[in-house]
Amino acid sequence: MAKLQHRYVCQTCGAVTARWGGRCDACGEWNSIVEEIPREAAPGGLAKTGGMSGKRRAGRIEFVGLEGPAAQEARRPSGLAEFDRVCGGGLVPGSAILIGGEPGVGKSTLLMQVAAALGNPEGPAGPATVPGGSPTVPGGSPIAYISGEEAVEQLRQRAHRLGLGAARVELATATSVRDIVASLDTPEPPPAVVVDSVQTLYIDTLESAPGTVSQVRASAQELIRLAKRRGFALLLVGHVTKDGQLAGPKVLEHMVDTVLTFEGERGHPFRILRASKNRYGPTDEIGVFEMGDEGLREVANPSALFLSERQDNVAGAAVFAGIEGTRPVLVEIQALASPSPLATPRRAVVGWDSARLAMVLAVLEARCGLVFTGKEVYLNVAGGLRIGEPAADLAVAAALISAVSGEAVPPGTVVFGEIGLSGEVRAVGRSEERLKEAAKLGFERAISSRRRDNGGRKKAGAHPGLEIQEIAHLNDLIEILAPQAAGRIARRAARTAADEFN
Ligand code: TYD
Ligand code: MG
Repeated sequence: MAKLQHRYVCQTCGAVTARWGGRCDACGEWNSIVEEIPREAAPGGLAKTGGMSGKRRAGRIEFVGLEGPAAQEARRPSGLAEFDRVCGGGLVPGSAILIGGEPGVGKSTLLMQVAAALGNPEGPAGPATVPGGSPTVPGGSPIAYISGEEAVEQLRQRAHRLGLGAARVELATATSVRDIVASLDTPEPPPAVVVDSVQTLYIDTLESAPGTVSQVRASAQELIRLAKRRGFALLLVGHVTKDGQLAGPKVLEHMVDTVLTFEGERGHPFRILRASKNRYGPTDEIGVFEMGDEGLREVANPSALFLSERQDNVAGAAVFAGIEGTRPVLVEIQALASPSPLATPRRAVVGWDSARLAMVLAVLEARCGLVFTGKEVYLNVAGGLRIGEPAADLAVAAALISAVSGEAVPPGTVVFGEIGLSGEVRAVGRSEERLKEAAKLGFERAISSRRRDNGGRKKAGAHPGLEIQEIAHLNDLIEILAPQAAGRIARRAARTAADEFN
């Protein structure tokens, strides 16, 4: 008999090693490596091992041309606009969606609300959105909600608390994939199935514990295969844990059609749903929710929410006019620069890229003479939003200039633009939309890069009530925001230059 080989699997990325280690070489995660007992064959899921007599004959693959009928994409919107937007307009039958997030962020709450909205007979979830699309999913068919984490009574209690007691959602508690597949493998399965969470599932042919990479992968694969075959939308919950005790959603990302992450800062009521992969829609959309006593409330105007706690006339803050997906979103960027006793002062960033902050700091020092040596720098995007756009550079610079000069950015000002290494301010896309949103929210002034929308042709639309200052260099920003400091900086720069020369 072959000796049973030990293998160690990183629960974050799924990398397999022969020896245990404290840190995964593949993804760099600490304490994520766990021993798993291998099976002789590749994970076969529910298929019986060794049950087939003789070798299977190879079949021929049938090739077809591109012409011919294409499947009508019949989407099923839930009616929760923020959720539908992130999914690309609604759930696609037969597709698998993974919803990842830290425990307690609100995944179960979100999916209970989505399930209830989908199963609401009077709700907006009607038949397919595409005219002529398959009417196999008429509005009002009950949605299946399978939980491996909570008892049916608990689920019911939550639904009642959310005011969803009348929705057509069928609850069940199950963790065995064999049972789940047997129950759903019918000619008329529910149009959508929620499974909360993938880490509680197990397949009895595998020896490893639920939550390990092999179990999570095989269980998900089995359910996804069934969803494709029977044409129901599958919503899988995946916990993300820092300590690597559970296999992370990363190991499933390539198997599902859509990966959504549900994010939120602890202590903040805001929750952001983001698509990081989507075979059926865009990936840069966000959905914004607010967690309250009655569950998640959709936030249709995120700018107003992100700016709700803003105070005018505070040094170190600037409002950035950003774009998230199809929507403009205004958000406050806060900076703090404080003297540091450390040889290497701290730089900490929440909600933005720390390498990008280092670049903006370096450009402000080298090209504009602002001094951050000996200062700790903290940067925060208010409200728990994460910004990925380079267009935020100029707003970050504005917050930093205001923080070191002590002069507040004039109230009612929005800022956007990308910064280059020589201190030049570069044009960014979709500036008209940014300005329009700022004007809509009552802002009076915009400091921006030169506007070059529309494929390079300069297009400067007017925005009533909004004074627009287009700038070409960071020095112009300092002139506008801190004219006195600009004078000081210029004198200091001249002095240093003279000192160096002498
Ligand atoms: P939950 O959906 O259970 O999170 P997850 O499934 O991601 O682990 O939500 C947990 C948190 O949400 C919990 O701390 C309580 C809070 N919550 C509310 O604030 N209001 C509500 O109406 C509900 C249902 C939950
Ligand atoms: Mg949960």
